[in-house]
Amino acid sequence: MMEGLSLAHFQAGYPKREVIRDLNVPLLPAGKITVLLGPNGCGKSTLLRAIAGLNSGRGELRLNGEDLMSLSFAQRADRVVYLPQSLPAGVHLHVLESIIVAQRASGNRGSESDVMALLKRLGIEHLALSYLDQLSGGQKQLVGLAQSLIRRPSLLLLDEPLSALDLNYQFHVMSLIRRETQQRNIITVVVVHDINIALRHGDHVLMLQNGELIADGQPENVITPETLAKVYGVRGRIERCSQGKPQVLIDGLVAEPTF
Ligand SMILES: Nc1ncnc2c1ncn2[C@@H]1O[C@H](COP(=O)(O)OP(=O)(O)OP(=O)(O)O)[C@@H](O)[C@H]1O
Ligand SMILES: [Mg+2]
Repeated sequence: MMEGLSLAHFQAGYPKREVIRDLNVPLLPAGKITVLLGPNGCGKSTLLRAIAGLNSGRGELRLNGEDLMSLSFAQRADRVVYLPQSLPAGVHLHVLESIIVAQRASGNRGSESDVMALLKRLGIEHLALSYLDQLSGGQKQLVGLAQSLIRRPSLLLLDEPLSALDLNYQFHVMSLIRRETQQRNIITVVVVHDINIALRHGDHVLMLQNGELIADGQPENVITPETLAKVYGVRGRIERCSQGKPQVLIDGLVAEPTF
């Protein structure tokens, strides 16, 4: 059996709004980072929440050969962690306590020293005794990531985990996510809007538009001037930098606005 996540004829949405109609994704491999790209409102968060069982979904969803749809909510929550795009307002609890709570909730695997070690790896050990409701936006995002990682999921769904982070933490966090993904053989799906991050850190890219999969594969095969024009309506170039790595440059819009 290949380890990974696959979706067949998957549907997700809201009582009066069908967002994902018939999504088929062959296999997102374990130990790799899949980047989920797509314009605002195309259904990225809806899809990830439905995979996590947090809003309604139908169809086939298999995680490492297991049928996720047939599991109880608790069993599913044990395997799948979703880090939301906007974190709830912090409660008046220490960072350290909040992560220990997340660890206990996931079956009490590991010890308090694992929590401190994780804070250190994330570069936020100095925040251990700060209160959640007194953190900056980026600090909150880093703590959210720590709460997700400590639960040791098989499937980690991160919804725009870099949106509030400075350049240093963006790079640091993507490197850490890569290491954790490889070492623990996690299937990691990350939503980002920065195409260059997808090119640099993604092993695999899914591009969504209006709830449909437009392209799927290695970053450089998915991120092309054609898909950028079709999905984002921008004129873009992919060029090699002086170190030979691909970079996206946006020259304008396909349809120039008339101001
Ligand atoms: N609770 C809801 N009830 C009804 N419709 C919703 C709800 N949440 C989102 N939608 C709609 O579903 C569609 C997809 O939203 P979703 O949040 O999945 O987009 P997204 O791809 O994550 O966008 P973004 O990049 O802006 O985060 C949008 O048209 C949105 O208006
Ligand atoms: Mg979203």
